[in-house]
Amino acid sequence: MSKSLQAIRGMNDILPEQTPLWRYFESTVARLLDNYGYKQIRMPIVEFTELFKRSIGEVTDIVEKEMYTFEDRNGDSLTLRPEGTAACVRAVLEHGITGGGQVQKLWYIGPMFRHERPQKGRYRQFHQIGLEVFNLDGPDIDAELIIMTWRLWGELGIRDAVKLELNSLGTSESRGRYREALVEYLSAHHDKLDEDSQRRLKTNPLRVLDTKNADTQAVLVDAPKMADYLDDESRAHFEGLKARLDAVGIPYVLNPKLVRGLDYYSKTVFEWVTDKLGAQGTVCAGGRYDGLVEQMGGKPTPGVGFAMGIERLVLMLETLEQIPAEISRQVDVYLCAFGEEAELAGLALAERVRDQLPNLRLQVNAGAGSFKSQFKKADKSGALYALILGDDEMAGQVVGFKPLRGQGEQQSIAWDALAAHLATCVVQG
Ligand code: HAM
Repeated sequence: MSKSLQAIRGMNDILPEQTPLWRYFESTVARLLDNYGYKQIRMPIVEFTELFKRSIGEVTDIVEKEMYTFEDRNGDSLTLRPEGTAACVRAVLEHGITGGGQVQKLWYIGPMFRHERPQKGRYRQFHQIGLEVFNLDGPDIDAELIIMTWRLWGELGIRDAVKLELNSLGTSESRGRYREALVEYLSAHHDKLDEDSQRRLKTNPLRVLDTKNADTQAVLVDAPKMADYLDDESRAHFEGLKARLDAVGIPYVLNPKLVRGLDYYSKTVFEWVTDKLGAQGTVCAGGRYDGLVEQMGGKPTPGVGFAMGIERLVLMLETLEQIPAEISRQVDVYLCAFGEEAELAGLALAERVRDQLPNLRLQVNAGAGSFKSQFKKADKSGALYALILGDDEMAGQVVGFKPLRGQGEQQSIAWDALAAHLATCVVQG
């Protein structure tokens, strides 16, 4: 195939055989978010480039090398959003909906774009469900976010395969003091650091902590620990969060090297990780960002949130075979009609049934065809029952009702009684 007719590398079609699992995942999360009192917000996919530079941080992988940035026809620099937090903060500020301390509990879903090296679980267009809470500064809401995801893993049947990693980055003051101590220590071991860490030491020293380089990791063993630099407020916040997780019985691992790849975090940071997906094991990640709204030009407004990668979680459901049986069947009943008169009667009958049973997945044969070919299509559709309308049925104002899976003889059902009959065998049965 010529290159122009292929999708862009790292940007995938989600094919009809995959969408039922995506929709199951998305609707499970959406129901949970509704139940916990979160409201959906929808932001544009493109924003001014400046927004991401100012919020995510100039010296981050995302901003330095992963953004899809282009010039608009009028010369503005625009970027396909690499994440949702920045745009959400922009939106709440622009519409004044966090003013006067108003609490907002918001969620969003949609594609994000990062020019990363594609591999299993890492794509250039990927999808997140994220949420952001504004104007609540206590550890109780941090705990709620984590408790909610814990419930989600339980509902999805993947709880045993994920682990919660937790850290506190402290307030910006305590992080500043820690940064100084870390720079002093790492500078004394400059020659032993890998090249990337030497560069980060100058630009974004905390990121040295999550290096993958073994030599640098060895140097880090004796480095100053962030926990020793936390101020009283951050420490109390972190203890408050841990106490709540303990109360609900959610296990966690403290990871002092968890710093996250975006600059806006303060205090709590967390990641849900799995070893079932290979290298791209973080399925959900987030934390608190109490300074971000102010930094973006708003009044001081505490914020906390997270985002989960839909591709990674769908992959997990597949890997762990946690796919509910009912999502693979798309059709309950398939109506076959033979001859023009029967086709017309079938259409009207189908609409009457749909009026009475709005949840029934009823497919009417299209494209006519012989008895054999329509039956083949009915079977292939996965339907539980076929409805048959031929000359005999038309004469008797009945429909043939034939079980396609398992036992049972074909019966004749009067048109008027069809919806009630289907209700007993499909919708409730
Ligand atoms: P993030 O850690 O950059 O955080 O992304 C969150 C999640 O999105 C990751 O844990 C992962 O599951 C998924 N993800 C990220 N990049 C890719 C990729 N290239 N391919 C597939 N999945 C990916 C954020 O985006 C923050 N905005 C989260 C947040 C919200 N923090 C506070 N509020």
